[in-house]
Amino acid sequence: MRRPVIAGNWKMHKTSHEAQEFIEKLAANLKGVEEADVIVAPAFTSLEAAVKAAQGSQIKIAAQNMHWENKGAYTGEISPAMLRDLGVTHCIIGHSERRQYFAETDHTVNKKVRAALDNEIIPIVCVGEILEEREKGDTFNVVEKQTKAALEGLTSTQVAELILAYEPVWAIGTGKTSSADDAQEVITKIREIIANDFGRESAGRVRIQYGGSVKPENIKGFMEQSDIDGALVGGASLEVDSFLKLINY
Ligand code: 13P
Repeated sequence: MRRPVIAGNWKMHKTSHEAQEFIEKLAANLKGVEEADVIVAPAFTSLEAAVKAAQGSQIKIAAQNMHWENKGAYTGEISPAMLRDLGVTHCIIGHSERRQYFAETDHTVNKKVRAALDNEIIPIVCVGEILEEREKGDTFNVVEKQTKAALEGLTSTQVAELILAYEPVWAIGTGKTSSADDAQEVITKIREIIANDFGRESAGRVRIQYGGSVKPENIKGFMEQSDIDGALVGGASLEVDSFLKLINY
């Protein structure tokens, strides 16, 4: 049985104070919800406050991006060692918004995934096709290429312990979701790719989330699918009540 993992990606929202208030309120209301991993990914400037507010609760704090080097002349970047030092446990890597707007490539995603693991940070690795690729029937090819590239050079044990997120780009922030069946089909395919490259055991253990316009009203349909182990949620993770509903699906 894979443990469900519900993660909120706050993107460029919330000040440090707002993050702290949110996490304190979430922690107070989470008591008794122990069947799922709960992760919140605030902006860099809120990470320290978020880690403090989450102390003593089951909430884990993720960054939304990181550099692959631990230090150096990289103005404006944040290293895995810096995140680890703050108490950050997870990091979203290869989100489509970073691929689209900030020139993230399969190659840099792979470097970041390796660096995260070297620093004991669990990567949440995002893959997913754009609308044009879906319409051309290229979804499986795109997802296969991204998954293989992201995981290149990892051991089977490392792959089993990370988190993948399938986020079809056309479903992000648009209110359009993939049907639960379509998401299941792609995620099953991702598991097959992992089974081929890293063995059945890793493929059976690795947790794969769906992301893209997940809401309290539709999360159950995704979570009922046998290969979908969680959700990576943007908009609907920004209000405590809505995020709690997602966790309590
Ligand atoms: P939305 O839930 O706002 O569609 O965002 C999804 C996402 O990009 C999570 O990483």
